[in-house]
Amino acid sequence: MSGIAILAIDGPSASGKGSVAQRVAEALGFAYLDSGALYRLTALAAQEAGIDWSDEQGLAQIAQSLDVRFEKDLTFLGGQDVSGLIRSEVVGAGASKVAAFAAVRQALLARQRNFAVAPGLVADGRDMGSVVFPGARLKIFLTATATVRAERRYQQLIARGESADLVAITRDLQSRDERDAARKEAPLRQWDDALLLETSQLSLDQVVECVLSWWKTRTET
Ligand code: CDP
Ligand code: CDP
Repeated sequence: MSGIAILAIDGPSASGKGSVAQRVAEALGFAYLDSGALYRLTALAAQEAGIDWSDEQGLAQIAQSLDVRFEKDLTFLGGQDVSGLIRSEVVGAGASKVAAFAAVRQALLARQRNFAVAPGLVADGRDMGSVVFPGARLKIFLTATATVRAERRYQQLIARGESADLVAITRDLQSRDERDAARKEAPLRQWDDALLLETSQLSLDQVVECVLSWWKTRTET
């Protein structure tokens, strides 16, 4: 893993991690890891198997044996296309609950590290720079105000033709961020070795440009 270039992007919900990480990975010709999808898939698979989101050992077994396939923009669980299903707020909240358990995080660790292939990987989540890839060449903490993030999520749902309620989105997003930041295991936090990128006033293009220029500077020194 040590010879493979890793760019870690962590941050709160709807800060733009996924959109930025995918575009940066494409520009650099790197693989991409959406670590949040694995927690969402664990929550969904548990729900389908009738395992409670509070049953740590049951959840860890589910996480360990996830039958997942990522194919372009699609995500398959046991052969079923669950790309839309895992993006729901209910599954997002479930992901945040199951992600608080040490045994679940441990069960997903090796699977995440397996995404690191030459020439490099862009990984997004909450603990990419702190736990999963502590040796990452560049670590970024991507954020924006809660109001801006809720508005982004709202616009994203509207663009997909889904119904959206800005008040409910704001409430869900805040309670998920609070849970993610307060937990003992891999809490959501900007660590000392991560560069802060506050994106409230920036377009997606501007953020991607900034990340690529930081990457260039970091890899040239
Ligand atoms: O992965 P994460 O939840 O952090 O965010 P996302 O799903 O990648 O982004 C949420 C939405 O914000 C997407 O529709 C992006 O196009 C949009 N957006 C952004 O990501 N960055 C900006 N600077 C502006 C908008
Ligand atoms: O796209 P968004 O930022 O809203 O969520 P996500 O990245 O898909 O993550 C869903 C949930 O999984 C988060 O609220 C976290 O609780 C958890 N997660 C985590 O604990 N560690 C990660 N590396 C990624 C996600």
